[in-house]
Amino acid sequence: MAKQEDTFKKVISHAKEYGYIFGSSEIYDGLSAVYDYGQNGAELKKNIREYWWKSMVQMHQNIVGLDASIFMHPTTWKASGHVDAFNDPLIDNKDSKKRYRADVLVEDFREKINQKIEKDITKAKKRFGDDFNEEEFRSTNQNVLRRQAEIDKITAELTRVQEENDLAGFKQLIEDLGIGCPESGSKNWTEVRQFNLMFGTKLGASAETATDLYLRPETAQGIFVNFLNVQKTGRMKVPFGIAQTGKAFRNEIVARQFIFRMREFEQMEMQFFVRPGEEMKSYEYWKETRLKWHLSLGLGNENYRFHDHDKLAHYANAAADIEFNFPFGFKELEGIHSRTDFDLKAHEEFSGKKLRYFDNEINESYTPYVVETSVGLDRMFLAVFSKSLKEETLEDESTRVVLKLPAVLAPTKAAIFPLVKKDGLPELAKEIVNDLKFDFNVLYDEKDAVGKRYRRQDANGTPFCITVDHESLETKTVTIRDRDTMEQQRVAIADLKQILDQKTSFKSWLAKL
Ligand code: GAP
Repeated sequence: MAKQEDTFKKVISHAKEYGYIFGSSEIYDGLSAVYDYGQNGAELKKNIREYWWKSMVQMHQNIVGLDASIFMHPTTWKASGHVDAFNDPLIDNKDSKKRYRADVLVEDFREKINQKIEKDITKAKKRFGDDFNEEEFRSTNQNVLRRQAEIDKITAELTRVQEENDLAGFKQLIEDLGIGCPESGSKNWTEVRQFNLMFGTKLGASAETATDLYLRPETAQGIFVNFLNVQKTGRMKVPFGIAQTGKAFRNEIVARQFIFRMREFEQMEMQFFVRPGEEMKSYEYWKETRLKWHLSLGLGNENYRFHDHDKLAHYANAAADIEFNFPFGFKELEGIHSRTDFDLKAHEEFSGKKLRYFDNEINESYTPYVVETSVGLDRMFLAVFSKSLKEETLEDESTRVVLKLPAVLAPTKAAIFPLVKKDGLPELAKEIVNDLKFDFNVLYDEKDAVGKRYRRQDANGTPFCITVDHESLETKTVTIRDRDTMEQQRVAIADLKQILDQKTSFKSWLAKL
């Protein structure tokens, strides 16, 4: 089995085994691309959301929060362009009967060529050691140049067929590249068709009076339609931002890859309203600020890269993705879009209500421009979880599975163990739990030998294990073991709060941003 696939399978099974993610309604054989977060998953997800929320809303005086409804007036989606343009190009394989997104087939093909370049670079790095100059290698090595030219050609044609909505051209591109069905290899394709991604539903007591509604495909529109409500009631001055987290729904054609592409998912979005003409400065600021937020989690700087869009969405004048090195390669994690005044203008037009801002400083009224940052919470979860899962070989040649989650995000901050189940050790351990539980998520565990308990918490992602032994009774000290280094230190029970606070609190991590 390919190494990537193998790693990904381990991620999925670990997520289930340790109560992070279950398939939805599993007892009925599940529902495709819909997942439930278990006892640990719900905590990890909540912590990611909170780290994002605090970094956006609490740390910025000019950003406030919002919690808009999932149901919105149906005209919202006409105005936003989603009814007419929120489509994906789909293609079916006639032999395997599998359905794919045409653009994803081409992108995956292109990424495979890119992986070959990266492989050549890794090999050359090993061969030349410290003398290796990556930039020079990229610009002179014949294999790399040939492959890069191939990638550029594919990108140009993909952009063209998308921009011109040339569906026949799309199919031709797939055929020209010799792309086969990823499941069966068959190249027997149907025509490419456009498919709207919004889920429809109905609101109303009877079939005759019911109104057609959509489940929101993004949270952003809830922010736009509330722009003036928030600006006026919060007395916000441009530039300012509105942040929101919440569920979004898309009838994805291909929803594989676990929680990477789901039909029901959660977004964390922020719309930053600026003076017209100042959007590019703000766009650059948010690109940099958001990347810094991701890097702060310590999952490895080499796992992130920017991808500037060649094809811009109907509302954007600049757009970039922060891509992450998922177990199946680099893919979009977050989008940063300069959305111009498209949305506010469209809502003005469709609602007939003014959505303008009077800027006292320049004595002018205008429709603000918007820079958006939009990250999928579930995708963040997958990024964090997959990169944290490690299999390590220890000095004594034994192996351990350890989930090195950033401590600020870990579901349980510390596990407290009595070394043995007697001599008053459980009582003292429980006393510590009862004291720490007001500030931290902690758990008590007395089952099995202490070594086994350590391994259980390693796999669970718990950054600290605190062991109460006989010495604890006399000296009021305990050992605290670090999940990542496995080092143990004896510390005073009275210092535990401060130690955990410094290592795991939002405050400590936000201060490093
Ligand atoms: N308001 C802009 C917007 O929705 P997007 O690029 O379509 O832009 C933003 O989505 C982010 O939402 C993506 O970068 C991704 O992290 C997440 N996302 C989008 N579709 C998703 C899906 N089907 N499953 C999980 N996450 C998704």
